[in-house]
Amino acid sequence: MERLDKFLVECGIGSRSQVKNILKSGAVTVDGVVQKDGAVKIDPGKQEILYAGEALQGKRRVVAMLHKPAGFVTATEDKQERTVMELLPPELARQDIKPVGRLDKETEGLLLFTNDGDLLHRLISPKKEVPKVYYARHEGQATQDDVKAFADGLTLRDGTVCRSAALEPIGAGESRITVCEGKYHQVRRMMASRGMTVLYLKREREGCLELGALALGEVRELTAREITELDNECR
Ligand code: URA
Repeated sequence: MERLDKFLVECGIGSRSQVKNILKSGAVTVDGVVQKDGAVKIDPGKQEILYAGEALQGKRRVVAMLHKPAGFVTATEDKQERTVMELLPPELARQDIKPVGRLDKETEGLLLFTNDGDLLHRLISPKKEVPKVYYARHEGQATQDDVKAFADGLTLRDGTVCRSAALEPIGAGESRITVCEGKYHQVRRMMASRGMTVLYLKREREGCLELGALALGEVRELTAREITELDNECR
């Protein structure tokens, strides 16, 4: 059982205050009876809830990707900093979606959001080994010894042991790094353990997904096909 107004917001018909007005207008019926009280408890599995005569399906699964700009922390709220939630359009913010894992404040790139708690946990589980690909600009030049050290599994300066990862030098002070875990500041600390300071970091891919043409600061929902592929990847 859940509150009618919460259910209506989750269905995406409007914000909390819009839903209040929609209810007041008498546009919502529960089992054929107009219901104006948002606090009333309903069971969407057993009751028929109509809005303007149309049946509501309840919470839909939402997965979205953001091209995160630098300067935003990955958190649902923060007293001092701007959060990635501020970059979501209101219709998505209303869907109770949360960031999947985290990117540092200064890191750019692909950040997923979902309201599916099970998918979220599978995506961040090191057991599922969903690969994440980063582009890094850094001080120092990556050598073949560094490539081997990444592949063998690095030990960070504080003793943390990392799983095997791929380091691919792609130019002077530029590398591509693929990791299957999400430890705190992982890429920056892995590079630091080999004497390289990361100056710029961007996540280009997560599993089967890539940023593509999504502009910095923009958000888009994944297609049904992308969600299925992602789901299969971390099953
Ligand atoms: N590794 C980092 O060091 N920072 C990120 O934001 C993501 C991976």
